[in-house]
Amino acid sequence: MIKKAIAVMTSGGDSPGMNAAARAVVRTALFEGVEVYGINNGYQGMVDDDIVPLDRKSVSDIIQRGGTFLGTARCMEFKTPEGRKKGFDNLVKRGVEGLVIIGGDGSLTGGSLLSKETGLPIVGLPGTIDNDVWGMDYTIGCDTAANTIVDAINKLRDTASAHRRIILVEVMGRHSGWLAMMSGIAGGAEYILVPEVKFDMDEVCTELKEMYDAGKRYSIIVVAEGAGSAVELGKIVAEKTQIDTRVSVLGHIQRGGSPTVEDRMKASMLGEKAALAIISGATNVVFGFNEGKVVGVNLFDAVNNKKTLDPELVRLSRVLA
Ligand code: ADP
Ligand code: F6P
Repeated sequence: MIKKAIAVMTSGGDSPGMNAAARAVVRTALFEGVEVYGINNGYQGMVDDDIVPLDRKSVSDIIQRGGTFLGTARCMEFKTPEGRKKGFDNLVKRGVEGLVIIGGDGSLTGGSLLSKETGLPIVGLPGTIDNDVWGMDYTIGCDTAANTIVDAINKLRDTASAHRRIILVEVMGRHSGWLAMMSGIAGGAEYILVPEVKFDMDEVCTELKEMYDAGKRYSIIVVAEGAGSAVELGKIVAEKTQIDTRVSVLGHIQRGGSPTVEDRMKASMLGEKAALAIISGATNVVFGFNEGKVVGVNLFDAVNNKKTLDPELVRLSRVLA
């Protein structure tokens, strides 16, 4: 049964490519003759009834921009059944018959509860730089974020080499080490510390000292925020190695920037896929990429399973260090 009206929203931590995905949802729906509503500021906008009709022009001139033109937010009220019902009623009164949610695992979890409690058809897209959604090896924004981190590592290598220093770089990823692993390997880091793999700082420091004494000019250590504080780990390194040590916490610079071609292309393909699916009656599915192909993952599976780190990447990072 073809829908007459759908809605699209971005939620949780923003990521470069969210705009490309939302633009593709809107343009595809309009192409199919279906009305599209935009929910401003994530679930907070749904609860606050901040929902607006969108047209082609609403998504003009945004494909090249990071962030999200719809805005996003964290919303505690939506973590309650009453809050979810309030949001649902605001959609129903506009005749919205399906919702596309572009967000991370938290947002998709919220969507799974909304689906279960109200029956509203939900299609999700993995909008997060963390690359931590189960069932897929890519999330919208992870490529741009990894490139931002690698650019920072390239710059840090110059100054670390000039001063014969060890520099620790703390990157995002929340509880996942995927972003650290991708950017650490691509950035040529000597060590990549991730929450999924145990590490021994005594061992790391002994090796760092041996390499330094053998003439190695500098070392870069990428630290996933879920593995610990780079500032605290940096104190341990400085103390145990007696080598000049500095720390860079990249923070929210990793969330911004113009999306890469990969993020724009994949986000556009996923946006079209999501719009066609929700319009044709699909529900409880998250579309993503796996091994270069679009895959549909059951929404409840995606949110109830934790994505593991590819052991092959862990092995490679050790071989190449
Ligand atoms: P992300 O989607 O990037 O993981 P969050 O985890 O902050 O970001 O989730 C974004 C929003 O999704 C939250 O502010 C909340 O409104 C909703 N949400 C997250 N987890 C849940 C949950 N377990 N139940 C209901 N809503 C949730
Ligand atoms: O989930 C995306 C993310 O960037 C995480 O990597 C990070 O830990 C978190 O969001 C930061 O959240 P906030 O933007 O609310 O500080």
